Amino acid sequence: MRPPQAVARVAATLAEAGVLDPRVDAEILVAEVHGVPRSALFVPDGELSAVAVARLEELVARRRRREPLQYILGEWGFRRLTLTVDRRALIPRPETEVLVERCLALVAETAEPRILDVGVGSGAIALALADERPDALITAVDASVDALALARENAERTGLAGRVELVRGDLFAGVAGPFDLVVSNPPYVAESELPTLEPEVRDWEPREALVGEGVTEAIAAGAREVLVPGGALVLETGGGKAGEAVGLLDQLGYVEVRVTADLTGLTRIAEGKVEETRMTSPREGAVP
Ligand SMILES: C[S@@+](CC[C@H](N)C(=O)[O-])C[C@H]1O[C@@H](n2cnc3c(N)ncnc32)[C@H](O)[C@@H]1O
Repeated sequence: MRPPQAVARVAATLAEAGVLDPRVDAEILVAEVHGVPRSALFVPDGELSAVAVARLEELVARRRRREPLQYILGEWGFRRLTLTVDRRALIPRPETEVLVERCLALVAETAEPRILDVGVGSGAIALALADERPDALITAVDASVDALALARENAERTGLAGRVELVRGDLFAGVAGPFDLVVSNPPYVAESELPTLEPEVRDWEPREALVGEGVTEAIAAGAREVLVPGGALVLETGGGKAGEAVGLLDQLGYVEVRVTADLTGLTRIAEGKVEETRMTSPREGAVP
């Protein structure tokens, strides 16, 4: 079978299964089994080998069950890194790349910034920051043993193992601080919203990475206790929901609060700073 013909067939079968972008997924899967980049699929010559056709059938059957493409491929790009992805952690999203962008901007003027990533998952945020800010001192926490194991594998894979301290814990328990920046892409789906999610998310990604009512609030409050005066908190929210997080940050006394939209134009990221003139420095006692 020639690759364009395989793409057409796979796209049709994935469309039938309800996959949202069947043509894109078909091209990626055919390119994967054929061992070429997507852009090389439509050159005039070339034929899929018998082994490639058999593997394609297997991968398409998985995708038809609405297993995420990223889990099927086993790796996915995030910023400048290629990370292993599997059911142990959330698939890194493009909107989270914008979150990393905001973090980099906020510590641009800080030498050796101390950064805490709450809910490290696959390691995407912490490792991207380690990669793009070689002088940063990064700690990353997750409550999930499985997610931490995957983050550790990704730290090894990307050559950043010595750069991120991985800690198992519930939010801020077990991290001393202080930090110049706290970042988090917390679980923010309400239990009642779960049934409305696409099967790829609802049925395949870890529940503890998705559902977490009150977690955003707990992180926003807890971050104030570990941030230095002038330190920043950056939070990812549901699409279009960053405004709600802004209200929360305002209420908690953060200053310079602002939102950033994701690549689709939805407000997605909320950030704020701890005021410079605080009378007490948490965990350090009173400041004269
Ligand atoms: C939405 S995922 C984000 C993963 C990764 N940072 C990313 O952006 O791709 C949220 C992560 O927070 C972790 N988590 C949930 N509740 C937690 C808690 N109370 N303490 C620490 N981590 C928690 C989950 O295990 C999950 O890995």
